[in-house]
Amino acid sequence: MYLPVDVAHGHWQKHPMIRYLIANWKMHGDRAAVTAYGAAIAQKMKTAPPTLHCVFCPPMVLLEAAQPKVKSGTSFSIGAQNCHQEPQGAFTGETSAAMLKDLGVRYVIIGHSERRAMGEDDATVMAKARSAIASQLTPVICIGEPREVYEAGGTASYLDKQISLLKSLDVEKYLLAYEPIWAIGSSQTPKMAEISAAHRHIKTVLGSRVPVLYGGSVNVGNIGEILALPEVSGALIGGASLEIERMVAMIDIACQLKG
Ligand code: PGA
Repeated sequence: MYLPVDVAHGHWQKHPMIRYLIANWKMHGDRAAVTAYGAAIAQKMKTAPPTLHCVFCPPMVLLEAAQPKVKSGTSFSIGAQNCHQEPQGAFTGETSAAMLKDLGVRYVIIGHSERRAMGEDDATVMAKARSAIASQLTPVICIGEPREVYEAGGTASYLDKQISLLKSLDVEKYLLAYEPIWAIGSSQTPKMAEISAAHRHIKTVLGSRVPVLYGGSVNVGNIGEILALPEVSGALIGGASLEIERMVAMIDIACQLKG
């Protein structure tokens, strides 16, 4: 599929659409599981089209166990689930973007709702995103509304607050993940038309070139329909990404999509 990617700038360029499948393991796994998973997914991605990118985000302490399976230049990469905004310093227990880069990490999830629930605010999310970009990592910046906002029809204005700050970032340097908080780990998703509408709204504000992924209860049964939406550039997958078989099945579905 070829999408107009530069509408915001008044002319239409054509680029093949890149799709991302990001496996967010949250606080799950051990060295053996991460090593086996990295090997299996790296092998699977050898036959995937170059327009499909897969990013494996294990817990911080397991990044190195996943890393040896990744060859540079393939479309399989390792991502972290968080970083600190400062390059170094007296921040006990924290990890800087530069340290992740040094380890061979290429992506970092920033501002996941589970971290926002631990007190991470928009200003910190922005500082972390800038720090990731400065270290040549690609931040995957998460946004999304709580259930009561969704039920009151307030999704667009809630997202506006979260994305207004992002206007200052170069759209070539980050990915955005739209994850309705109520859909995460709940087996509930918005209707396809609602996912489309939210993604279109985000692109109206930030420009059509920003890749927007969907996250929240993505699984083998719904990923095909979600990825087929023209506004959706991929999926951020939690629970359903934990098993090799289910992740491989989702990669297969993504590989079969046109364009
Ligand atoms: P889920 O999690 O797929 O288990 O809903 C998604 C996420 O939190 O990124």
